[in-house]
Amino acid sequence: MGFTLDKVVPWGRSYHEYVSMFELKEADLQRRILGCGDGPASFNAELSRRGGNIVSVDPVYGFSADQIRCRIAGTYETVMAQLHQNHRDYVWDTIPSVEQLGQIRMFAMETFLADFGSGKQAGRYVAGELPHLPFADKTFDMALSSHFLFLYSAHLSADFHIRALLDMLRVSDEVRVFPLLALDGLPSPHLPVVEDQLAQQGFRTAVKRVPYEFQRGGNDMLVIKPA
Ligand SMILES: C[S@@+](CC[C@H](N)C(=O)[O-])C[C@H]1O[C@@H](n2cnc3c(N)ncnc32)[C@H](O)[C@@H]1O
Repeated sequence: MGFTLDKVVPWGRSYHEYVSMFELKEADLQRRILGCGDGPASFNAELSRRGGNIVSVDPVYGFSADQIRCRIAGTYETVMAQLHQNHRDYVWDTIPSVEQLGQIRMFAMETFLADFGSGKQAGRYVAGELPHLPFADKTFDMALSSHFLFLYSAHLSADFHIRALLDMLRVSDEVRVFPLLALDGLPSPHLPVVEDQLAQQGFRTAVKRVPYEFQRGGNDMLVIKPA
């Protein structure tokens, strides 16, 4: 069965969150970037506005802006209720309340929606799914995964993660993944086997502490490069 919109709860992060999660320096932001599973994040819209070179790939881009907007509206209150309920699992330093978080996420998603039509025409939003990316080898300098790989460890196997990361390494020179926690707030059980398998396939991995922490204890990213 194919991907359907009711399988996804759209929740998009901002440009500044991406910069902080992936510790993106000025030189990184000049590179050809692929965002895998960017969904309704505003990173693509904002980086493109700043003159960056980015493509985002996600199965939701097979739907129209109106369909995605409708799904955001239909799931927003549920996400907010869950955040209130699980308040203690998050760090409220930078974003002080659930309400402000909701506003920041909605602003990011509105920014994405306003950019989606023209961005799709320009080839910046591509409908596609890991672990088979619709790009030629080494099309990008860097491939990112924010809040998809490792987060859904209960739903996606270690084998899926290895295949997805190898395909990201096929189309790019370097991969960065954030966070390394699963939805339960614990370190992904897949990380050791994924690192081991990638080492066997000729890649070196490093876990790096970053300045971004919202999910409590979630302030590490995985960097993968050819050995
Ligand atoms: C929690 S959202 C994260 C959105 C964005 N990266 C962010 O951090 O704000 C997860 C995204 O992964 C996308 N997704 C689901 N299955 C995927 C797959 N097989 N390959 C790539 N993306 C996928 C979903 O459509 C959704 O947009």
